[in-house]
Amino acid sequence: MSITTPTFIVDEAQIISNLKTLADIRKQSGCKVLYAMKALPCSRVLEIVKPFVDGFAVSSLFEAQLAQEVLAGQGDVHLTTPALIAEELYELTTLCTHINFNSLSHHERYAPIVETQAAIGLRINPKLSFVADDRFNPCRRYSKLGVDIDALWQANQIEQVTGLHFHTVFSATDFTPLIQTVEKIRRYFGNSLEKLKWINLGGGYLFHSIADYQPFIDLVIQLRRELKVDIYIELGNGIVGNAAQLNATVIDCFESDGKTVAILDTSINHNPEVFEYQRSPHVLEHDVNGRYSMILAGGTCLAGDIFGEYRFKQPLQLGDKITFAKVGAYTLIKANRFNGHNLPNVYLKRADGELELLKHYTYQDYQQQWSSATTSNAGQPILTSQNMTNFK
Ligand SMILES: Cc1ncc(COP(=O)(O)O)c(C=O)c1O
Repeated sequence: MSITTPTFIVDEAQIISNLKTLADIRKQSGCKVLYAMKALPCSRVLEIVKPFVDGFAVSSLFEAQLAQEVLAGQGDVHLTTPALIAEELYELTTLCTHINFNSLSHHERYAPIVETQAAIGLRINPKLSFVADDRFNPCRRYSKLGVDIDALWQANQIEQVTGLHFHTVFSATDFTPLIQTVEKIRRYFGNSLEKLKWINLGGGYLFHSIADYQPFIDLVIQLRRELKVDIYIELGNGIVGNAAQLNATVIDCFESDGKTVAILDTSINHNPEVFEYQRSPHVLEHDVNGRYSMILAGGTCLAGDIFGEYRFKQPLQLGDKITFAKVGAYTLIKANRFNGHNLPNVYLKRADGELELLKHYTYQDYQQQWSSATTSNAGQPILTSQNMTNFK
């Protein structure tokens, strides 16, 4: 089969290897593992992950719907979001086993509606910052993520929920933040924690890049023994982050102010976090000692559509292939068709080595997204001068 770029290739064997590591940790510690599907919600990926986990962590109605389509009741669905919408609550309770409120006001307003259907938890903000970049820091000043730990302590509301949730780190490779956070929560809430049924330690830990899991295992065993609660983790990046690559082809090369620019047939459309966070993705062909330095750029009209400056053994030529590695998490899910550039073909490199095409997008998909003719009530005047006032 001939493969045209750009392609996004998911590596089943790598996902399974990550999941086997987690299965071992789960066995040794007794913790429950959820897949945070926001990282990469391809249904095929969800099917691969499903046998290894206790369920999925979701952040919206659509994610909850997809989660249940795959799980079909065979696992937990934990919802955590600041974006709870009253109109969606009923449906969410039919899909989610656990709902974590993001604020005391949402808890007060919505707990009476959902508590007979789903287990109720609170996301708390432990106010311990471990992430230098505030754009990733859930505990940043004026955070919108979770109930301020001091406010919760003062409100004395912890006994009105069955679970606590926190998520405070990003791509962490040691467990010090987790241990310190748990210590702080125990100091604040003491024996009240024994009345809980579960504590969700969130995601953000790159288990596949951590050599020593023992501190995590010891922590979970201790919490389970002393508090008699279920302990959950909900990982995205730690399950799929290192398990996909984006392949591209050089379509133009030229000099600009003394540097060589190589234009690719992909762009930051396919990896928006490169632009959002100004980070350069890992390029397999890059060689630190390479003689030739080149700027890898995407093909959209955005001046900053640039992946970074990399070094190569030989100068890049038209038709050369470039491989962005470890782009499994938060890449495809954020991809867009800006400039009318198509989304990449999505393949699964199966554990048996075969490449399986999961998705191929066409002009019809682009047209469907933007043409109002495909909306069933298009052309109907739903905005009258009366109801327009709602939008002012
Ligand atoms: C509440 C929550 N849980 C879990 C995750 C998954 O984090 P990661 O993919 O870094 O493991 C996130 C990521 O944003 C999150 O916001």
